[in-house]
Amino acid sequence: MVPVITIDGPSGSGKGTICQRLSEKLGFHLLDSGALYRLTAVASMRQGVDLHDISATADIARHLNVVFEPSNQGVVVLLDNRDVTSEIRQEKASQGASIVAAHIPVRQALLVRQRAFREPPGLVADGRDMGTTVFPDAVVKIFLTASPEERAKRRYNQLIERGDSVTLRALLDSIKARDERDMQRSASPLKAAQDALEIDSTKMTISAVLEKVVSLVQQRIGLI
Ligand code: DC
Repeated sequence: MVPVITIDGPSGSGKGTICQRLSEKLGFHLLDSGALYRLTAVASMRQGVDLHDISATADIARHLNVVFEPSNQGVVVLLDNRDVTSEIRQEKASQGASIVAAHIPVRQALLVRQRAFREPPGLVADGRDMGTTVFPDAVVKIFLTASPEERAKRRYNQLIERGDSVTLRALLDSIKARDERDMQRSASPLKAAQDALEIDSTKMTISAVLEKVVSLVQQRIGLI
Protein backbone atom coordinates (compact mmCIF):
# COMPACT_ATOMS: atom_id res chain seq x y z
CA MET A 1 0.00 0.00 0.00
CA VAL A 2 1.27 3.49 -0.87
CA PRO A 3 2.17 5.25 2.43
CA VAL A 4 0.21 8.35 3.43
CA ILE A 5 1.16 10.95 6.04
CA THR A 6 -1.78 13.08 7.15
CA ILE A 7 -1.47 16.50 8.74
CA ASP A 8 -4.76 17.97 9.94
CA GLY A 9 -5.47 21.10 11.90
CA PRO A 10 -7.05 24.56 11.81
CA SER A 11 -5.99 27.31 9.42
CA GLY A 12 -2.84 29.12 10.46
CA SER A 13 -1.46 26.16 12.39
CA GLY A 14 1.41 25.97 9.87
CA LYS A 15 0.32 22.73 8.25
CA GLY A 16 0.50 24.12 4.68
CA THR A 17 4.18 24.97 5.02
CA ILE A 18 4.99 21.78 6.92
CA CYS A 19 3.24 19.61 4.32
CA GLN A 20 5.02 21.33 1.46
CA ARG A 21 8.47 20.96 3.04
CA LEU A 22 7.83 17.40 4.15
CA SER A 23 6.62 16.31 0.70
CA GLU A 24 9.74 17.86 -0.87
CA LYS A 25 12.00 16.17 1.66
CA LEU A 26 10.43 12.76 1.12
CA GLY A 27 9.83 13.15 -2.63
CA PHE A 28 6.14 12.38 -1.93
CA HIS A 29 3.09 13.82 -3.69
CA LEU A 30 1.19 16.60 -1.94
CA LEU A 31 -2.56 16.94 -1.48
CA ASP A 32 -3.78 20.39 -0.44
CA SER A 33 -7.38 19.34 0.23
CA GLY A 34 -8.40 22.82 1.38
CA ALA A 35 -7.66 24.06 -2.15
CA LEU A 36 -10.39 21.74 -3.47
CA TYR A 37 -12.97 23.30 -1.12
CA ARG A 38 -11.71 26.77 -2.02
CA LEU A 39 -11.99 25.91 -5.74
CA THR A 40 -15.55 24.65 -5.25
CA ALA A 41 -16.46 27.97 -3.60
CA VAL A 42 -14.72 30.08 -6.26
CA ALA A 43 -16.25 28.09 -9.15
CA SER A 44 -19.72 28.35 -7.52
CA MET A 45 -19.43 32.12 -7.04
CA ARG A 46 -18.27 32.50 -10.62
CA GLN A 47 -21.29 30.64 -11.89
CA GLY A 48 -23.62 32.64 -9.68
CA VAL A 49 -24.49 29.62 -7.54
CA ASP A 50 -25.62 30.26 -3.96
CA LEU A 51 -23.04 28.69 -1.62
CA HIS A 52 -25.85 27.40 0.59
CA ASP A 53 -27.38 25.46 -2.32
CA ILE A 54 -26.22 21.95 -1.43
CA SER A 55 -26.99 20.11 -4.64
CA ALA A 56 -25.74 22.86 -6.98
CA THR A 57 -22.41 23.24 -5.13
CA ALA A 58 -22.00 19.43 -5.02
CA ASP A 59 -22.54 19.34 -8.76
CA ILE A 60 -19.80 21.93 -9.17
CA ALA A 61 -17.46 19.92 -6.89
CA ARG A 62 -18.13 16.80 -8.96
CA HIS A 63 -17.23 18.53 -12.23
CA LEU A 64 -14.33 20.75 -11.14
CA ASN A 65 -11.93 21.14 -14.04
CA VAL A 66 -8.74 21.73 -12.08
CA VAL A 67 -5.03 21.28 -12.67
CA PHE A 68 -2.29 21.63 -10.01
CA GLU A 69 0.88 22.58 -11.85
CA PRO A 70 4.22 22.58 -10.01
CA SER A 71 6.39 25.63 -10.81
CA ASN A 72 9.45 27.39 -9.39
CA GLN A 73 7.16 29.63 -7.32
CA GLY A 74 5.16 26.74 -5.89
CA VAL A 75 2.03 25.09 -7.21
CA VAL A 76 -0.03 26.99 -9.80
CA VAL A 77 -3.75 26.21 -9.63
CA LEU A 78 -5.76 26.32 -12.86
CA LEU A 79 -9.56 26.29 -12.88
CA ASP A 80 -11.03 25.88 -16.37
CA ASN A 81 -7.54 26.77 -17.66
CA ARG A 82 -7.47 30.08 -15.72
CA ASP A 83 -4.85 30.79 -13.08
CA VAL A 84 -6.73 31.14 -9.76
CA THR A 85 -3.70 30.60 -7.48
CA SER A 86 -4.09 33.90 -5.65
CA GLU A 87 -7.88 34.17 -5.96
CA ILE A 88 -8.42 30.97 -3.96
CA ARG A 89 -6.31 32.38 -1.09
CA GLN A 90 -8.42 35.52 -0.67
CA GLU A 91 -10.64 36.00 2.37
CA LYS A 92 -13.82 35.62 0.27
CA ALA A 93 -12.68 32.17 -0.90
CA SER A 94 -11.75 31.18 2.68
CA GLN A 95 -15.19 32.04 4.00
CA GLY A 96 -16.88 30.45 0.98
CA ALA A 97 -14.85 27.24 1.35
CA SER A 98 -15.91 26.95 4.95
CA ILE A 99 -19.59 27.16 3.90
CA VAL A 100 -19.45 24.56 1.08
CA ALA A 101 -17.26 22.25 3.21
CA ALA A 102 -20.23 21.73 5.55
CA HIS A 103 -22.32 20.13 2.76
CA ILE A 104 -22.13 16.30 2.89
CA PRO A 105 -22.64 15.84 -0.90
CA VAL A 106 -19.77 18.28 -1.56
CA ARG A 107 -17.51 16.27 0.75
CA GLN A 108 -18.55 13.02 -0.96
CA ALA A 109 -17.84 14.49 -4.39
CA LEU A 110 -14.34 15.53 -3.29
CA LEU A 111 -13.55 12.25 -1.50
CA VAL A 112 -12.79 10.26 -4.65
CA ARG A 113 -10.73 13.10 -6.07
CA GLN A 114 -8.65 13.29 -2.88
CA ARG A 115 -7.99 9.55 -2.72
CA ALA A 116 -6.74 9.64 -6.31
CA PHE A 117 -3.71 11.63 -5.10
CA ARG A 118 -2.41 8.46 -3.40
CA GLU A 119 0.28 7.48 -5.88
CA PRO A 120 3.76 5.94 -5.40
CA PRO A 121 6.11 6.64 -3.75
CA GLY A 122 3.76 8.23 -1.17
CA LEU A 123 1.51 11.13 -0.23
CA VAL A 124 1.51 13.96 2.28
CA ALA A 125 -2.12 15.04 2.82
CA ASP A 126 -3.02 18.43 4.29
CA GLY A 127 -6.53 19.12 5.61
CA ARG A 128 -9.10 18.77 8.35
CA ASP A 129 -10.27 15.16 7.98
CA MET A 130 -7.35 13.48 6.25
CA GLY A 131 -6.58 11.15 9.18
CA THR A 132 -10.19 10.61 10.26
CA THR A 133 -12.09 10.14 6.99
CA VAL A 134 -10.08 10.32 3.79
CA PHE A 135 -7.04 8.21 4.71
CA PRO A 136 -7.93 6.36 7.94
CA ASP A 137 -5.13 3.86 7.22
CA ALA A 138 -2.41 6.55 7.05
CA VAL A 139 0.94 5.41 8.46
CA VAL A 140 1.57 8.70 10.29
CA LYS A 141 -1.14 11.08 11.51
CA ILE A 142 -0.40 14.51 12.92
CA PHE A 143 -2.85 17.02 14.39
CA LEU A 144 -1.23 20.44 14.30
CA THR A 145 -2.68 23.28 16.36
CA ALA A 146 -1.79 26.78 17.61
CA SER A 147 -3.74 29.32 19.66
CA PRO A 148 -6.24 31.46 17.67
CA GLU A 149 -4.25 34.60 18.63
CA GLU A 150 -1.00 33.16 17.29
CA ARG A 151 -2.70 31.99 14.08
CA ALA A 152 -4.27 35.43 13.53
CA LYS A 153 -0.84 37.04 14.06
CA ARG A 154 0.78 34.73 11.46
CA ARG A 155 -1.95 35.47 8.92
CA TYR A 156 -1.70 39.22 9.67
CA ASN A 157 2.04 39.24 8.97
CA GLN A 158 1.50 37.32 5.71
CA LEU A 159 -1.18 39.72 4.47
CA ILE A 160 0.69 42.87 5.50
CA GLU A 161 3.78 41.60 3.68
CA ARG A 162 1.59 41.11 0.61
CA GLY A 163 0.46 44.74 0.88
CA ASP A 164 -3.13 44.01 1.98
CA SER A 165 -4.77 46.26 4.57
CA VAL A 166 -6.27 44.22 7.39
CA THR A 167 -6.64 44.47 11.14
CA LEU A 168 -5.53 41.86 13.62
CA ARG A 169 -8.91 42.05 15.36
CA ALA A 170 -10.84 41.31 12.13
CA LEU A 171 -8.57 38.36 11.36
CA LEU A 172 -8.96 36.93 14.84
CA ASP A 173 -12.76 37.20 14.56
CA SER A 174 -12.69 35.52 11.15
CA ILE A 175 -10.42 32.69 12.37
CA LYS A 176 -12.68 32.07 15.35
CA ALA A 177 -15.79 32.04 13.13
CA ARG A 178 -14.17 29.57 10.75
CA ASP A 179 -12.93 27.32 13.58
CA GLU A 180 -16.42 27.27 15.02
CA ARG A 181 -17.96 26.25 11.66
CA ASP A 182 -15.26 23.66 10.93
CA MET A 183 -15.51 22.06 14.39
CA GLN A 184 -19.28 22.16 14.84
CA ARG A 185 -20.38 20.78 11.46
CA SER A 186 -21.75 17.25 11.50
CA ALA A 187 -19.93 16.16 8.33
CA SER A 188 -16.27 15.31 9.04
CA PRO A 189 -15.72 17.99 11.69
CA LEU A 190 -12.23 19.23 12.42
CA LYS A 191 -10.93 16.92 15.14
CA ALA A 192 -7.86 14.85 15.83
CA ALA A 193 -7.93 11.19 14.81
CA GLN A 194 -7.65 8.90 17.84
CA ASP A 195 -4.27 7.68 16.65
CA ALA A 196 -2.92 11.14 15.73
CA LEU A 197 0.00 12.81 17.43
CA GLU A 198 -0.96 16.33 18.53
CA ILE A 199 1.61 19.08 18.12
CA ASP A 200 0.94 22.60 19.44
CA SER A 201 2.98 24.97 17.28
CA THR A 202 2.10 28.17 19.20
CA LYS A 203 5.62 28.59 20.57
CA MET A 204 7.49 26.57 17.96
CA THR A 205 9.30 27.62 14.81
CA ILE A 206 8.44 25.96 11.49
CA SER A 207 11.77 24.14 11.49
CA ALA A 208 11.22 22.78 15.00
CA VAL A 209 7.81 21.42 13.96
CA LEU A 210 9.29 19.93 10.78
CA GLU A 211 12.05 18.26 12.77
CA LYS A 212 9.51 16.68 15.10
CA VAL A 213 7.37 15.43 12.21
CA VAL A 214 10.38 14.06 10.32
CA SER A 215 11.57 12.15 13.37
CA LEU A 216 8.12 10.59 13.75
CA VAL A 217 8.09 9.59 10.08
CA GLN A 218 11.55 8.08 10.50
CA GLN A 219 10.36 6.00 13.44
CA ARG A 220 7.31 4.74 11.55
CA ILE A 221 8.57 4.22 8.01
CA GLY A 222 12.29 4.86 8.15
CA LEU A 223 12.38 6.51 4.73
CA ILE A 224 14.77 9.35 5.46
O1 DC B 1 -6.94 24.53 4.78
P1 DC B 1 -7.73 25.66 4.13
O2 DC B 1 -7.77 26.91 4.97
O3 DC B 1 -7.28 25.95 2.73
O4 DC B 1 -9.25 25.12 4.04
C1 DC B 1 -10.29 25.89 3.51
C2 DC B 1 -11.63 25.47 4.11
O5 DC B 1 -11.96 24.15 3.66
C3 DC B 1 -11.68 25.45 5.64
O6 DC B 1 -12.72 26.27 6.12
C4 DC B 1 -12.01 24.04 6.01
C5 DC B 1 -12.35 23.33 4.74
N1 DC B 1 -11.67 22.05 4.65
C6 DC B 1 -12.35 20.92 5.04
O7 DC B 1 -13.48 21.02 5.50
N2 DC B 1 -11.78 19.70 4.91
C7 DC B 1 -10.54 19.58 4.43
N3 DC B 1 -10.00 18.38 4.32
C8 DC B 1 -9.81 20.73 4.04
C9 DC B 1 -10.40 21.96 4.18
